[in-house]
Amino acid sequence: MTRILAPGSTAPPAFRALPPLSLYVHLPWCIRKCPYCDFNSHEWRRGGDGPPEDAYVDALVADLESALPSVWGRKVPTVFLGGGTPSLFSPEAIDRLLAAIRARLPLAAGAEVTMEANPGTFERERFEGFRDAGVNRLSIGVQSFSPRHLAALGRVHDAAEARAAVDAAVELFDEVNLDLMYGLPDQAVDEALADVEEALAFRTKHLSCYQLTLEPNTLFHRHPPPLPDEDEVDAMQSAIEARLERAGFDHYEVSAYARPGHRCMHNVNYWRFGDYLGIGAGAHGKVSSPDRVVREVRWKQPIRYLEQAIAGTPAMERREVAAGELGFEFMLNVLRLTEGVPATLFAERTGVPLAAIGRELGIATRRGLLDPDPSVLRATPLGRRFLNDLVALFLRDGAHAKEPA
Ligand SMILES: C[S@@+](CC[C@H](N)C(=O)[O-])C[C@H]1O[C@@H](n2cnc3c(N)ncnc32)[C@H](O)[C@@H]1O
Ligand code: SF4
Repeated sequence: MTRILAPGSTAPPAFRALPPLSLYVHLPWCIRKCPYCDFNSHEWRRGGDGPPEDAYVDALVADLESALPSVWGRKVPTVFLGGGTPSLFSPEAIDRLLAAIRARLPLAAGAEVTMEANPGTFERERFEGFRDAGVNRLSIGVQSFSPRHLAALGRVHDAAEARAAVDAAVELFDEVNLDLMYGLPDQAVDEALADVEEALAFRTKHLSCYQLTLEPNTLFHRHPPPLPDEDEVDAMQSAIEARLERAGFDHYEVSAYARPGHRCMHNVNYWRFGDYLGIGAGAHGKVSSPDRVVREVRWKQPIRYLEQAIAGTPAMERREVAAGELGFEFMLNVLRLTEGVPATLFAERTGVPLAAIGRELGIATRRGLLDPDPSVLRATPLGRRFLNDLVALFLRDGAHAKEPA
């Protein structure tokens, strides 16, 4: 393992108690690659062979087994099956996967088990099968209910399929999230609001509203579509926030809104700088032990991953995070949470004293980006607006933390 030490880093971290540990499982296939997507997703052509689900579940189980010594005995409160399009897998394959996970990891009683599902990749019985396999939270990638915008996004489903998927999901699951995107090609503010209005009509308890971004290595990046300008996107964001607040949703993270008691505990664990084991092609993980934090990335190409996982070498990259980098990584996550975190969580989760980032905290507070209350680490409304600038202050090269502003 390479030990990368950032300038200014000193002793390794020392933890009093390890953070909660979640499990992320990546299922990397989709029917078609969407032009805006930079996730590790690979086309599986309908009509050809389906995803090699038996072999892939075998690889995931081998991957999990090779990771067990690093997380031995730790209870797991949440599992997330993400993609890609996990709902392309059959209920039988998901059942075998979850049974194998339960047999190897101590899942907490009532553990949250989320699965991402795309409209147009399922029938109602499939959802029932996922539920019977142990999935208790479904996250549906709707993106929009507008036929024009679904076409502009190159989605494989239409608006009717999106509605049918959500109908089935809310009937079968207590916890349902809908993913929506705004700032879509040629979208007006009232069209973005119409999507939110329609999502609210289904009475789901969680919504994720993402601003469409042009990611490098995507078709949209090479051939940008006509996107609304910054003012229009800001107006959409404000209108969505106001509408969801009126509907009783708590805007608890940059893109996440939930009715009280229905936050996504898996994502909250990421944002509170918890640990997570990531298995599956391209999955990322972060696991703490008493004196170090280790990050791992799995082989990205599904075929390569299949071979390597079975051979007992699923990780393509493994590195210990230097004490000097932990401050930035912690702030990058926790400042996404609207209510922030208690200041004491810094030492608990990084094993480094808060004083290690005292200078940067002072600068951020003086610039009005961070709440002056010393008992919390929380962005101000200005800090949330300029979140990238705020987080960059904690980068250890010091380049961003020069006084005065
Ligand atoms: C892991 S992705 C994929 C989930 C699922 N395969 C789907 O497409 O519905 C989770 C969510 O990220 C969001 N997303 C993906 N690419 C994005 C982009 N370029 N800009 C903003 N949001 C994006 C979408 O809302 C998507 O549902
Ligand atoms: S379906 Fe989802 S994961 Fe697959 S390519 Fe489209 S956005 Fe990416």
